[in-house]
Amino acid sequence: MKKVVITGASSGIGRSAALKFCASGYSVVALGRSEIKLARLKEEALGCSGKLSTEACDLLDFKAVSSILEKHHDLEILINNAGIYQRTDWLNPVLGEYEALFDTNVKAAYLISQCAIKTWKAQDSHGLILHNASTLGNKPAPFAGLYSASKAALLSLSKSIAMEFAPNIRSIAILPGVIDTPIHQTMGEEKALEFRKTMAGFHPLGRIGSPEDISSLMLWLCSEESQWITGSEFVVDGGISLVC
Ligand SMILES: NC(=O)c1ccc[n+]([C@@H]2O[C@H](COP(=O)([O-])OP(=O)(O)OC[C@H]3O[C@@H](n4cnc5c(N)ncnc54)[C@H](OP(=O)(O)O)[C@@H]3O)[C@@H](O)[C@H]2O)c1
Repeated sequence: MKKVVITGASSGIGRSAALKFCASGYSVVALGRSEIKLARLKEEALGCSGKLSTEACDLLDFKAVSSILEKHHDLEILINNAGIYQRTDWLNPVLGEYEALFDTNVKAAYLISQCAIKTWKAQDSHGLILHNASTLGNKPAPFAGLYSASKAALLSLSKSIAMEFAPNIRSIAILPGVIDTPIHQTMGEEKALEFRKTMAGFHPLGRIGSPEDISSLMLWLCSEESQWITGSEFVVDGGISLVC
């Protein structure tokens, strides 16, 4: 049974990926901060053909992260999915916003990737890392300057890993458009609802994405069908990049 470690598996895209991989026979190690959400996920995964175990930790706690990866040294795939979104305003910066976005979206992904790469190098084994970036990593949007920059950094790290550790270790980035997950709740319930409605109208495919739209691609990228792919970026955005 192939083991996949998924960060941010307690919610949204990561949760969908954890359930999809488990249903497809993988041994899933689901990471998240919230023990309550992880316990709920474990219940949802009961009866799947694979296995699901959970590890509650803050990805910024490097000691905790490295001991989790030590315990799961037989991992074959790491999905760097955890991330936060925060609106930022060049003219009205909020104390700590830079650290929050870069620590979670870049540093945490960098540190856990480092642990996985060291493990695979020490065992002389093969590994794959998927990074959940964003279409905003390649283009700007109003009030998303720091989020976009953090995702641009993640895209760069993905390519670095792909180049430096080929052929045994592959690294691929996914760039979702707007996906219906709790990440937008930081705007407040009402604004998030309005945002989703407005954004749906901008998409040539007529709706915003579902977490499953992204986890399906993740599953394919981890299959035998994708063995000649590394360093690539996959945009999954209902066509919104065509129009804005
Ligand atoms: N939704 C979108 O429109 C969209 C678009 C493009 C890209 N993305 C990217 O997709 C990824 C998943 O986002 P989502 O939309 O599924 O968001 P979400 O539902 O808010 O889930 C975010 C996940 O990240 C985890 N997380 C955040 N900070 C963490 C930390 N310091 N340590 C450990 N876990 C942490 C959360 O854990 P807890 O809940 O347990 O705290 C949660 O499981 C993110 O990287 C996001 O940037 C999302």
